[in-house]
Amino acid sequence: MKIITIDGPASSGKSSVAKALSQKLEFVYFNTGLTYRAIGFLKARNMDFFEAIKNNLMVFELLIGQTKVIFENIDITSLLLQEDIAKLASEVAKDPIIREKTIDFQRSLVKENAIVEGRDAGTHIFKDAHIKFFIDADPKERALRRYIQEDKPYEDILKAIISRDEMDKNRETYPFKPAEDAIQIDSTCMSLDDVVNLCMEYING
Ligand code: DC
Repeated sequence: MKIITIDGPASSGKSSVAKALSQKLEFVYFNTGLTYRAIGFLKARNMDFFEAIKNNLMVFELLIGQTKVIFENIDITSLLLQEDIAKLASEVAKDPIIREKTIDFQRSLVKENAIVEGRDAGTHIFKDAHIKFFIDADPKERALRRYIQEDKPYEDILKAIISRDEMDKNRETYPFKPAEDAIQIDSTCMSLDDVVNLCMEYING
């Protein structure tokens, strides 16, 4: 089983790169941020994620080019990707007990060749991954990318990105940082195709 990890901060372009690589290589795509988003989503409803998984109330599907989250038979993936859920996710992701259980769950989901995207995919979830990428971009560029997609003031988006970066980097356990053996790519001045092509060059050796 081959695992390729793609880590990086919010809006660095890592999801687009991960999805494109998943399609090109026909590896399933696992967006691990969705697990923390789902935990936050359920917590806000006074529900326990691990119970919901155990009882098949919530199901994760890893497919080519997409990760689907089904809750009570409804696909809630796009709902979970909304920015208000991201803040809840960042909060729950600070808890070391939740993280340990979540990492076990994340590992158990991957049963075939996969592109695994997140913050700690290369440092914790799959330390022995075949290739590890770390994709970064200047916060202002990341805010601009999100501004183009969202109907919100640029300054508010930039502030939210900087505050989430801080929360993810400064948490006491599992602080978010690149793996020592990760290939680091600064995508600030690169198009999506450029980043994908560069990754493919590394993958093809
Ligand atoms: O990648 P994302 O924006 O969907 O992630 C949502 C939050 O979950 C992010 O603020 C940090 C956390 N996260 C994490 O701690 N570890 C991961 N592997 C993925 C996400």
